[in-house]
Amino acid sequence: MTSRIYLDHAATTPVRPEVEAAMTPWLRREYGNPSSTHAEGRRAKDALDMARERVAESIGALFGEITFTSSGTEAANLGIVGLALNQISGPRRRILIGAAEHHCVLHTQKTLEKLGYQIEHLQVDPHARVHVEQAREKIDDSVLLVAVMHANNETGAIQELGPIAERCRETGAHLMVDAVQTYGQLPIQVDEVGADLLTISAHKIGGPKGVGALYLRGGVLIDPLISGGGQEREVRGGTENVAGVVGFGEAVTRVHQPSEKQAARDLFVAGLKGQAALPIVWTCPDGVDVLPGHAHFRVPGLRAETALIAFDRAGIACSSGAACSSGSVEPSHVLLASGLSADEANEGLRFTFGWTSTQAEAKEAVQRVGDVLQKLYTA
Ligand SMILES: Cc1ncc(COP(=O)(O)O)c(C=O)c1O
Repeated sequence: MTSRIYLDHAATTPVRPEVEAAMTPWLRREYGNPSSTHAEGRRAKDALDMARERVAESIGALFGEITFTSSGTEAANLGIVGLALNQISGPRRRILIGAAEHHCVLHTQKTLEKLGYQIEHLQVDPHARVHVEQAREKIDDSVLLVAVMHANNETGAIQELGPIAERCRETGAHLMVDAVQTYGQLPIQVDEVGADLLTISAHKIGGPKGVGALYLRGGVLIDPLISGGGQEREVRGGTENVAGVVGFGEAVTRVHQPSEKQAARDLFVAGLKGQAALPIVWTCPDGVDVLPGHAHFRVPGLRAETALIAFDRAGIACSSGAACSSGSVEPSHVLLASGLSADEANEGLRFTFGWTSTQAEAKEAVQRVGDVLQKLYTA
């Protein structure tokens, strides 16, 4: 059987063995509820606190500025809708959202409109980065929130946030940064990024699925979306996922271990570029800052759906940007926003390298991907 090569780390990453080891006691012998006052409960609370401290420190935040959630998706919903609810009677009625944001941000629009806010999309360039000057022009003192991601999850292009953050500060608008793809890949310090709210997720960094976190700058008030027992400083009710949060805290301490990720990605890109017969259109050419594990391209005329099935048969796990729902593949909203036609937006192919990737795998992947594309292209 052909060995599998996993090149979909932007979708999710394998759990690191140290993370599994750190979580195991909290799934076996430790079962206390962190809200209980007895010794079992206090141990669970201490474990949560240690993980919170680690996550906070990793982004230059304070302990009390981190709220654990069930995912990056929930963190974004909590930040955006929670702020909108809190400011429901306030004077700021506009919310600006990058046109190529993840759906967990974009799809809050309906709720925000029901709450009476006016939503405007910030246009993006061909690599899915928000046009900074256009964004700055739109930000004034009628804006409550600006949501712009740190790097795009499909194209991998890294956003220049400084001038947007500066304009937000000048006008009193809040900046929310979805850092789910950049966390663990780029250094993030909330003060440097200029974010008032920032979202991250454990399963993108070798941690477990089902745990995320919202950074909320001290003084920024939000309403909870889940009311309950007052957990997470009354911002998010529900008994905490202790094992998951412990795993998150462990993963955070491991993200800077040396890996072959970037070398493998570079080798993969160079290898495919060396196959001159392949009509590959790279989404982020040289000169565009891109995440160290991302490679994104399309082959004109080749639907991603067809290519992905062939790659999977050849033992390569990768993805398109297209979301698959009820059996139909939609064109990527990111590529549409970036100016491509619907047909072109159905052609995006994303290969993402991570902590398990090796250069040997990358070499083998060049061979297999090259062969598949050659066959499909000439078929
Ligand atoms: C940029 C971005 N934001 C948010 C999310 C959602 O995170 P989660 O899977 O933890 O809900 C993802 C996941 O792919 C993402 O890439």
